[in-house]
This record gives sequence, structure tokens and C-alpha cells, in this order.
Amino acid sequence: MPSEQVIELLQRAYTAEIETVMNYQTNAIVLDGVSAEEIKNSLREDVQEELGHADQLGQRLKQLGARPPGSAAFTARQESLQPPEDSTDVLAVIEGVLEAENEAIETYRDLINAAEAEDDPVTEDLAVTILSDEEAHRTEFQGFRKEYRNV
Ligand SMILES: [Fe+2]
Ligand SMILES: [Fe+2]
Repeated sequence: MPSEQVIELLQRAYTAEIETVMNYQTNAIVLDGVSAEEIKNSLREDVQEELGHADQLGQRLKQLGARPPGSAAFTARQESLQPPEDSTDVLAVIEGVLEAENEAIETYRDLINAAEAEDDPVTEDLAVTILSDEEAHRTEFQGFRKEYRNV
């Protein structure tokens, strides 16, 4: 029997990935200006990657006899990723992305620990793989932040 903690963390991670897809997609549309172009392209690419993460997490839940949640079980959390009032405020979106990626990194670290404690190497391996993607996203946006702070 898979532990409740592993299931709960998989479901939380799934929901966070879906919320991230929504907010990255929205910000990729909302942002304006020449300097926003690169951020918008990066967000669009990440939408596909985060959707892939959600799919893998959902499949793993199914393999463990559970299921990913639907929208009725959803609580929005990404306050800082809401599209900014000023559509040229690229830095606000970058900060929001960094917060979301940091939160994802924390969740996958928790999932790695929980899966290891439950002797569930398949879930652990999945969490390690996704963690490495999120760390790469964070590094990319840290680079963007550096540049935008100097504008
Ligand atoms: Fe992700
Ligand atoms: Fe990410």
C-alpha cells in the first residue's frame, strides 16, 4: 500500500503543475513590449514541460491506485503569478515564476524524502527527474532577473 503522504504530495504537485500551466500561459499572452519577447517564448516552452510533469504525476497516481484531482478540488495558491496590472512589468512575472519554481522544488524534495521512506523508488525517481527540470527553470529565470534588474 502506498503511503498517504506520497499520494498527497503527488496530488499537490499535480495541482501545482496545472496551476503553473494556467499562469505561464496567461502571462505569455498578457505581457507586452520588445523586452518581454524572450520571457514570453520561454514561458510558452515551459507550459509544455509543466504539462508533461502533470501527466507523469497523474499516471503515477493511477499506478498507485489513486487519481489526480479535478478542478472542484482545486485551491489557487500562486498569488505572485497573477498577470501584472502593468502589462510591461516583466520583472513582476519573473519574480512570480521564481517563487513558483522554488515552491515546486520544495514539493519535489518532500516527495523524494517521503517516497524514499516508503521504499517507493519509482516515485522517488520521477520526483528526482522533475526536480532537475525545475532547478533548470529556476536557473534560467534567475538569469533573466539579473538582466532585468540592470535595465
Ligand atoms: Fe513542473
Ligand atoms: Fe518549472
